[in-house]
Amino acid sequence: MLPERFLLSFSSNNIYMKSLKVTSNFEVYEAVEELPQAIQDLMKKAVMARDKAYAPYSQFKVGAALALSNTKVVTGNNQENASYPSGLCAERTAIYYAGATYPEAQIQNIVISAKSMKHKVEAPVPPCGACRQALVEYEVKQKTEIAVYFMGESGKVMKANSIKDLLPLIFENSVL
Ligand code: THU
Repeated sequence: MLPERFLLSFSSNNIYMKSLKVTSNFEVYEAVEELPQAIQDLMKKAVMARDKAYAPYSQFKVGAALALSNTKVVTGNNQENASYPSGLCAERTAIYYAGATYPEAQIQNIVISAKSMKHKVEAPVPPCGACRQALVEYEVKQKTEIAVYFMGESGKVMKANSIKDLLPLIFENSVL
């Protein structure tokens, strides 16, 4: 038996409840060669960063490359720690470095590649939830969308035109 507050909100003649459907759009590319040349070049930088990740515990290496409006490219990779939660994902390492180094620049694209040292990763690897929240902060800050391209070691690449496609119903500073 549900408490009364649930019975009230679920009753069939409840005229207040409305359903809300949230949709996200993604582009799917069969392989990295299908991407525009500039994004392929950025992916090469993400792969180079990925291979330098410090991931002795998970054996899972992630690299991110960010293209900025000032033409700079910033890269980052995951940095693990013997105290596991003290480590940081590639995406946050890269975006915090970009924010610290070029605070006035806008981030245009984020390109991500992930590779396991234990098995082949052929499916696209999207950023984790904590990274999505960190990334969307910069989209709100700069007032323009950031495109995200993500892949595994090989295979399909997915693209979202905005972090909001990865994180609907964002928590952002307008509520504070
Ligand atoms: N990792 C990232 O770098 N980015 C993500 O979005 C997901 C996970 C890292 C964290 C950790 O070092 C390893 O991958 C396994 O979770």
